[in-house]
Amino acid sequence: MSLYGQTKGTPLEPISEMMAKAEANGTMMYYALARLAKEQGMEDVSKTFIEAANQEAVHAGFYATLNAMVPQDFWMLVRGVMAAEYRGETTVKAMADKFRAAGLAEAAGEMEIFAKQEGHHGEMMEGLLKKYKPEALDVEGKTIYVCGCCGFEYVGDLDAEPEDYVCPICGQPKKVFRRKE
Ligand SMILES: [Fe+2]
Ligand SMILES: [Fe+2]
Repeated sequence: MSLYGQTKGTPLEPISEMMAKAEANGTMMYYALARLAKEQGMEDVSKTFIEAANQEAVHAGFYATLNAMVPQDFWMLVRGVMAAEYRGETTVKAMADKFRAAGLAEAAGEMEIFAKQEGHHGEMMEGLLKKYKPEALDVEGKTIYVCGCCGFEYVGDLDAEPEDYVCPICGQPKKVFRRKE
């Protein structure tokens, strides 16, 4: 049985919401600790935090499912995320250039790897869309709105979304979206 939306609109919704955020934040913190531990030569500590972080990430997704934080029919979301991932390659590369110019060459070097990974995420998602939902890639004649912050693409009538609609990736409000020409 699907857990999708089981706490949405119930008195348990705030609990799932709080837990989703706490677990996502824990994921970030544990990966940062893993990184620091590795820099300090403690491989075992690093591995432990990576293991914990991966589990926290699973937990975050669990609560997000309970609260229906992504659509159950998710392929149009994946198509929009694919666009953001492709754009992410360019934007992260541009950020890396800024970091390098500011003297942070080592950080910039890693960010350049991340940039390529973003592009690869886009390719992976495109591959899955072609395999399972090719019609979601056919946006010919449809209206597309692009999130000015992260590049997520919304296909369809954005005006029909509630006023409190936010970008599913970066959380920015409707007003940052621009119609794609
Ligand atoms: Fe990515
Ligand atoms: Fe966004």
